[in-house]
Amino acid sequence: MTASAASPRGSTGPAQPETIFTWAGPALKFGVGAVDEIGYDVAALGTNRVLVLTDPGVAATGVPQRVLDSLRASGLVAELFTGVHVEPTDASVRAAVDFAMGGGWDGFVAVGGGSAIDTAKAVNLMTTYPADLVEYLNPPIGEGKPPAGPVKPLIAVPTTAGTGAESTAVCVMDLLDLRVKTGISHPRLRPVLAVVDPSVTLTLPPGVTAATGFDILCHALESYTARPYTAYEKRRPEQRVAYCGANPVSDIWIQQTLPLLARSFRTAYHHGDDLAARTDMLRAATFAGLGFGNAGVHIPHACAYPIAGQVRDFRPADYPDHVPLVPHGMAVVLTAPAAFRHTFAADPDRHLWAAHVLDPATDAVRDERERLPEAVRRLMRDLAIPNGLMGVGYSGADLDTLVDGALKQQRLLSIAPVDVDADLLATVLRESLTVW
Ligand SMILES: NC(=O)c1ccc[n+]([C@@H]2O[C@H](COP(=O)([O-])OP(=O)(O)OC[C@H]3O[C@@H](n4cnc5c(N)ncnc54)[C@H](O)[C@@H]3O)[C@@H](O)[C@H]2O)c1
Ligand SMILES: [Fe+2]
Repeated sequence: MTASAASPRGSTGPAQPETIFTWAGPALKFGVGAVDEIGYDVAALGTNRVLVLTDPGVAATGVPQRVLDSLRASGLVAELFTGVHVEPTDASVRAAVDFAMGGGWDGFVAVGGGSAIDTAKAVNLMTTYPADLVEYLNPPIGEGKPPAGPVKPLIAVPTTAGTGAESTAVCVMDLLDLRVKTGISHPRLRPVLAVVDPSVTLTLPPGVTAATGFDILCHALESYTARPYTAYEKRRPEQRVAYCGANPVSDIWIQQTLPLLARSFRTAYHHGDDLAARTDMLRAATFAGLGFGNAGVHIPHACAYPIAGQVRDFRPADYPDHVPLVPHGMAVVLTAPAAFRHTFAADPDRHLWAAHVLDPATDAVRDERERLPEAVRRLMRDLAIPNGLMGVGYSGADLDTLVDGALKQQRLLSIAPVDVDADLLATVLRESLTVW
């Protein structure tokens, strides 16, 4: 299939279209000062012994200690684990599980970005229902075993404005031997409460602000352009999955997300101490999480898995430099301009609306297909994202292995609004070698 042959799904249409969508989210407490009330909220969940999980960088901000103080002030037994790995791996998740196992915890609090929140989801599952990690990982890499029952309450305190992991039912990790990213996906993994306090994001350095902000942007754009839930074959209740495709409730969250990003992403990057801009960004992250956490994401996220998993020596500014790393949000946005060029035909109105809201100046771009790619490219340039895959160390010689890695993400590719095969992925990745 050639790139231009990327065809909207449903040209033949499902034999029996889906009529039902589902939507779920955590309880939410949002606002400056929310972190210092967390003891009250966690005690109200009926917990007594709570493990707080974070990474060393977040620990250094003092926020996890504030959480611990608040928990103890509410009479809870609370301990801190600071060993979360930035971009978790199977090894780091197993180490966190080993630390937590046998501690008698009846609740978990994750303080950090997606790395801490995802690690805590896995720890919660694996200490509640011990099994080998591979049993729980998504097929085809793992066995996709569901949790045997309810897990313990997990409370998430996001300290990046990015992943929306506090709202989602998945956790993601690198499998070191296989050099792929995969995850565990089940509605029971979703945190019961998100305590979202913009003041804790004031310490985010510019490089992390940029990468995590592009994660928000791609969550919003991918879920807004996702295959509609009505374009699937009807499922039985037990077949319904956490990501059900674009739906009217997810759409509302995304329609609120993009104006916030348009207004405040550049300001939060250039003026990190601007609390109003940080508040907008954290609202955007939360809103996008509530949207994509039910609709799903597609081509840029599927490509991001091998882009992050096969990194050789790229070391981004403002991230720990002990290992090569393409941060998640950066890995995602590198293929976004090309991806939205090829999804345009599935729903031109949605692509044009998003381009206009993000950057009205793109209305002047004559080729309508290029407007959303151009809006994304302008933001990437302004926020010092590398110019494409070559900017993070890949070359044309890597395309075949990147295509193979992206093809493994069938759970995500099934959300794309166009049929995705190896040829289309190769086209998207080739066009992403240099973005401008
Ligand atoms: N579960 C999901 O739905 C989901 C969605 C998207 C991404 N992810 C995963 O999330 C991970 C990435 O998470 P992330 O982008 O939030 O970043 P992160 O958690 O990896 O943190 C990035 C860096 O920022 C530092 N940091 C975090 N908060 C800080 C603060 N307030 N002040 C100063 N430094 C701070 C951390 O120490 C770390 O060095 C990836 O593993 C990705 O695959 C999960
Ligand atoms: Fe993401």
